[in-house]
Amino acid sequence: MIVAIDGPAASGKGTLARRLARHFGYAYLDTGSLYRAVGFAVMQNGGDPADPDTAEAAARALDPGILNDERLRTDAVAQAASKVAAIPAVRAALLEFQRAFAKRPPDGARGAVLDGRDIGTVVCADADRKMFVTASVDVRAKRRFKELREKGHEVIESAVLQDMKDRDARDAGRTVAPLAPAEDALVLDTSDLDAEQVFTLAVKYVTEGR
Ligand code: C5P
Repeated sequence: MIVAIDGPAASGKGTLARRLARHFGYAYLDTGSLYRAVGFAVMQNGGDPADPDTAEAAARALDPGILNDERLRTDAVAQAASKVAAIPAVRAALLEFQRAFAKRPPDGARGAVLDGRDIGTVVCADADRKMFVTASVDVRAKRRFKELREKGHEVIESAVLQDMKDRDARDAGRTVAPLAPAEDALVLDTSDLDAEQVFTLAVKYVTEGR
């Protein structure tokens, strides 16, 4: 069972994906962390995340050991991630890792949940279940602001909103694998739903299909 979950930043897709994976005993891959790791590596070397050769080299040298590192969770790294993510050679370099995870989930799990921007459209276009989780940009910026503040990051709300808009535009506007719902995805708008309600809808869909 392959469950594909896509959506913009702070839509709630990560929380949902993690909960679904735990509930069904499936393996979970946060594919955004791959792009973040590439952006982070480029930044650490003082490189330009928008430079194709630098970014591709970082993608090819990616060490999966860094994927859970807290240093990937900043707004600056998110911006760098969306820049490297617009480069076709970077996406190509990360494709096999994601597909292998979906087809042969680690620890013998019977299924995999992957979340990102292009899972249902490109990475796992043949996934058994596809969801597109979204919310208004204001709601998402508020969520992200709260989350960053709770982690002790010094952020201002208007800057978080502007960053979110910039990243949305870059993710939806790029020519390769732009953020978009797959034709056959179940669209969940979480603007007026809490995490519990979204989870309930998603469990029903994964269990029964539609
Ligand atoms: O989901 P997260 O905010 O961690 O993703 C960081 C960035 O990585 C996104 O803004 C997007 O540009 C890129 N990304 C992508 N394709 C994915 C997952 C993430 O392009 N499947």
